[in-house]
Amino acid sequence: MRTAIYPGSFDPLHNGHLDVIERGARLCDKIIVAVARNLSKEGLFSFDERVELIREATWHVKGVEVASFDGLLVDFAAREKADAVIRGLRAISDFEYEFQMALMNRELSDEFETIFLMPSQEHIFLSSRMVKEIAKLEGKVDRFVPPPVAGALARKLQQASPS
Ligand code: PNS
Repeated sequence: MRTAIYPGSFDPLHNGHLDVIERGARLCDKIIVAVARNLSKEGLFSFDERVELIREATWHVKGVEVASFDGLLVDFAAREKADAVIRGLRAISDFEYEFQMALMNRELSDEFETIFLMPSQEHIFLSSRMVKEIAKLEGKVDRFVPPPVAGALARKLQQASPS
């Protein structure tokens, strides 16, 4: 039984994340999509909302579990007996941060392996930050995020500035 963890902020999940989840699910028996709770950056969505949106967007992917975690990723990975952690690599600009994080995690735990997966080319430019910015400025984001996320973004921004 091969288990992988796909950790992130997922504020919110976009189609590039979903693409990596689908690719990861083909490589292992169980993929735990894990929302990190102890991030300093304040998000648009609460951690529970992010978990729920990921659940709604990944129901069709076999072997997916959705969770959130506090504390270090290496400790969560050990608790879940994960064989590897998956991270998406979009462009060279991601590489330095990802490389540093992978090596630091391996420094914290010998057992820790990071697998990098590239999303398909059509998602290579996507980021949650840009999706939020476009949605806030009333641009269309339906092409960039799964339907439940598009609906949730519209509702969230409507709450923030009801007309
Ligand atoms: O989607 P993100 O923001 O790029 O994800 C970053 C994340 C959540 C994977 C990273 O910040 C993380 O692992 N946080 C958990 C705390 C931790 O283990 N920090 C040490 C990393 S070297």
